[in-house]
Order: sequence, then C-alpha cells, then structure tokens
Amino acid sequence: MQPDSPRVVLITGASSGIGKACAEHLQRRGYRVYGTSRRVPPLPAEPAPGLRMIAMDVTSETSVRQAVELVLAREGRLDVVVNNAGWGIAGSVEDTSIAEAQEQLDTNFFGVLRVCQAVLPTLRRQGSGYLINISSMGGLVAIPFQGLYSASKFAVEGMTESLRMELRPYGVQVAMIEPGDFRTGFTAERRMAVAAAEGPYKQALCTAVTVMEKDEQGGATPEAIAWRLEKIINTRQPKLRHLVGPLAQRFAVGVLKKLLPQRWFERMIAGYYRIV
Ligand SMILES: NC(=O)c1ccc[n+]([C@@H]2O[C@H](COP(=O)([O-])OP(=O)(O)OC[C@H]3O[C@@H](n4cnc5c(N)ncnc54)[C@H](OP(=O)(O)O)[C@@H]3O)[C@@H](O)[C@H]2O)c1
Repeated sequence: MQPDSPRVVLITGASSGIGKACAEHLQRRGYRVYGTSRRVPPLPAEPAPGLRMIAMDVTSETSVRQAVELVLAREGRLDVVVNNAGWGIAGSVEDTSIAEAQEQLDTNFFGVLRVCQAVLPTLRRQGSGYLINISSMGGLVAIPFQGLYSASKFAVEGMTESLRMELRPYGVQVAMIEPGDFRTGFTAERRMAVAAAEGPYKQALCTAVTVMEKDEQGGATPEAIAWRLEKIINTRQPKLRHLVGPLAQRFAVGVLKKLLPQRWFERMIAGYYRIV
C-alpha cells in the first residue's frame, strides 16, 4: 500500500442501520468503502464514485467468496472488515423451532464465520488489518424471549475471543462493538417464532417485545457506532470489547452484571421486561 493511499474497508449489511451509517461515515472520512447487501446486482466494471455497494448473502459461502474476491481483484488488499449483517428472532426458547433457530445462527453466527474464513488468508498474508465483529449487549446479557438471538451473539463473542488470540501473531487486530438499543431497520425486520404467536408464553412475549421495540425505536440513530468504529481502526492495539449505547444500558451490562449476584441481576432484567 502507498503510504497515502486510502484504506480499503468491507462492511457487511451496509444497506441499512448500523452498517449503512458506518459505511457512509468512513466513506466521507476518505476510506475506500465496499458495503454489502443481498439486494444489490453485480457492479459494472468501473465502480461509481462514492460508496461501492456489492452483492453478498452471508448465508451463502459462494456469495461471500465472490464478494471478497471482487474487492480483492479491484483493490489487491483489505484493511478493515466489519461483520455487521444480522437480524433478530423473538419467541420463547420452547416455541422456537430448530429450523428457525438454525436460520438465526446461519446469518448471525455462521455468516460471521463465512466472512472471517474468506478474508483471513488475505489479512494474515498482509500481516495487518482489522477485523471488527458487531455483536450486541445481548451477546453479554441474555434477554427473555430473545434466547436464540442472544445465543447467536454469545457464539460470536466466544469465537471472537479465540480469533483475537489466534491472529495476534500475524498483526491482525480483532475487536467487537456491542451496541445497546439503536433506531434502525432491526425492529421492522424482527421475526417472531411461528409457534410463539399462540404458545403458552404469548402474553409475556408480547409485553417483552413491546418494551424492546419501544427502546429500539426510541434509541439514537447509529452514528455513534460509526465514530467508535473509526476510533477502533485507528488504535494500534484496540481492546476486545466496545460497549456503545445509552449510559443506563452500558452501566447495567458493563458494571452491574459483574457486581451483582446473578439472581439479583436476573430479577432486574426480568423485571425490566415485565416478567413476574
Ligand atoms: N439496532 C440495534 O438496536 C442493535 C443492537 C445490537 C446489535 N445490533 C446488531 O447490529 C447489526 C446491524 O443491525 P441493524 O440494527 O443495523 O439492523 P438493520 O437496519 O435491519 O440492518 C441489517 C443489515 O443486515 C443485512 N443482512 C441481513 N441478513 C443478511 C444476510 N443473510 N446476508 C447479508 N446481509 C444481510 C441487511 O441487508 P440486506 O437486507 O440489504 O441484505 C441490512 O443491511 C446486526 O448484527 C444486529 O444484530 C443491532
């Protein structure tokens, strides 16, 4: 890379919400940004100026490899990769079918794994680069009726901890951003486990989801995450976890979870979602 050439960034799920905010922010700040979406047709030979959107479905290994190859063919390198694509399922654990659970993990966990496996040979050979996984506060604290979503993010947390140790000798920096509630397309995209609509937890589920939706839609727009991302990729050795969100949520997850006995903490979370 020429000393003054812009760094090349790949962000999955850049058509909406957090990914879009991050892609547009870094683009404005002079990075060469490739964003992905499932709904983008293949690019023409010469990219338009500005943000470059390319097709990628993280549930397809072929689609992931093609998108990564396209960026590498154009740029010859990759400096920052952000695993952001994701969605959430709501429903009790009991009422979520195995097929629904598999779909959730296929995007939120295996999607991250597919992208990691496609980009890591390049980052490792370069001996540099940043791999940033967008987890969630729900990857540190489970929320009732989001058990499978939390499972997918807990899985990302575990894998990212390992990756960080595996990649340190190669000069590749690994970190996670753990957002609290932000106003994005996530709320409208939330799916409900089919059996949950008429299951035994119906009333409690409905109440808890109403609280979640209110917090998400009353949350801030995701620019703060974009600024944090830029800070992380300009830190020589960033820390592993970066909580971003309302103070009360950061305090609950970052402080109370560590200090309070599990039973008290659990009561606090369950009470917040009106589970009696
Ligand atoms: N919003 C929050 O409060 C919040 C809190 C914590 C964590 N997060 C996490 O932040 C990430 C982004 O969510 P968001 O809030 O920005 O939601 P969003 O506005 O709904 O955006 C989700 C993005 O993911 C993409 N996507 C979904 N499934 C995909 C797939 N199979 N392959 C490729 N792309 C896919 C969508 O792109 P296309 O539909 O165009 O393909 C879209 O660009 C997620 O991982 C989410 O879990 C969000």
